[in-house]
Amino acid sequence: MSAPHQLDQRARAGFRQAFGYPPGAVAVAPGRMNIIGEHTDYNEGYVLPAAIDRHLAVALRLRRDSQIAMRSDRFQATVHLDGLPSRRQGNWTDYLVGVAREIDQEHGPGPGLDVFVASDLPVGSGLSSSGALEVASAVAMLAARGIEVPVIEIARLCQAAENDFVGARTGIMDQFTALKARGGNAMLLDCRSLEDEQVPLPDGRFAWLLADSRVRHELAGSAYNQRREECEAAAGALGLSSLRDATEADLERISNPVERHRARHVITENARVLQAADALRRRAPRGLGPLLYASHESLRLDFAVSCRELDCLVELAAGTPQVIGARMMGGGFGGCVLVLAESAGMDDLEQHLAEGYADEFHKAPEFYRVRSVDGAMSERSR
Ligand code: GLA
Repeated sequence: MSAPHQLDQRARAGFRQAFGYPPGAVAVAPGRMNIIGEHTDYNEGYVLPAAIDRHLAVALRLRRDSQIAMRSDRFQATVHLDGLPSRRQGNWTDYLVGVAREIDQEHGPGPGLDVFVASDLPVGSGLSSSGALEVASAVAMLAARGIEVPVIEIARLCQAAENDFVGARTGIMDQFTALKARGGNAMLLDCRSLEDEQVPLPDGRFAWLLADSRVRHELAGSAYNQRREECEAAAGALGLSSLRDATEADLERISNPVERHRARHVITENARVLQAADALRRRAPRGLGPLLYASHESLRLDFAVSCRELDCLVELAAGTPQVIGARMMGGGFGGCVLVLAESAGMDDLEQHLAEGYADEFHKAPEFYRVRSVDGAMSERSR
């Protein structure tokens, strides 16, 4: 569990130690869980994420020259660059460079930077450490350069950095959540209009557990972009610009069976997001259970982004009395399963999942008990 000010302090101290003087700007952004609405954001659909109490902080200072020095508390070596490269390096610095390039394009070239990144957000677990890195970088860089930009534009420029520079054609959910989420709430985001509504999360009788399968599939990036292309092809077959406007009645008009399945997931998942938001508004969290399981089945069968390890964790959770619902979370092919359970009995739940998972895969999952927090620029924290 982390608080933003702890990460802020860590980034400031790390920066001072690395560079010998204090930073000019520091920004902290949280990771996220997604309650429901997977692979819907880039189809202009609905998502229902919340920011979680795991954070990443970027401390930086503008330089007088054009040199860039980047350091993180995860790695020993400082990365030195002679100006912003035009091609990605294939490591964590790409997110920072991508964001800096986007800001330069919009607002004119900035000077070089010294940067220090501190984080307690696991990397590669599907908790959106990349979204948090982009958002914290953007907020710190804009502050250091004295540029004011509406929050939606910050989310867009972060997404553009990931799409165009890093090469992952992700949607806008992660960046938007890291910026605008509010503690105690999930955010119902319409990824077409970018309108958001805060929906109250269940009270303390219920808890969220993220069970990390610790599976990281190399193909995740390419399979993600491929899914996106399949969705675009399915929309094209219906003469639509996105699957947002498609209905189940349209499905029979998609002749390619793979594209038809992908579309069915997106259409049914959008409907589940709206139902889930409704259950939360009515303070009826048990209503989420069937929706979470149905989302998992749809991601497993129609969207084909689950894997044996994630399926196993969901099955184990489903066989536990205190669990309300569970599903794989994020892009897929590994990462975490999200579990909504009664708070009493979390230790037993973890034990049950760990034992069942070890029996099958001879390794232990990692557990994160998370609670919802504010985003970097939520209305309350501004
Ligand atoms: C990743 C992407 C998001 C979203 C999810 C799947 O987290 O960054 O934009 O598409 O996968 O829902």
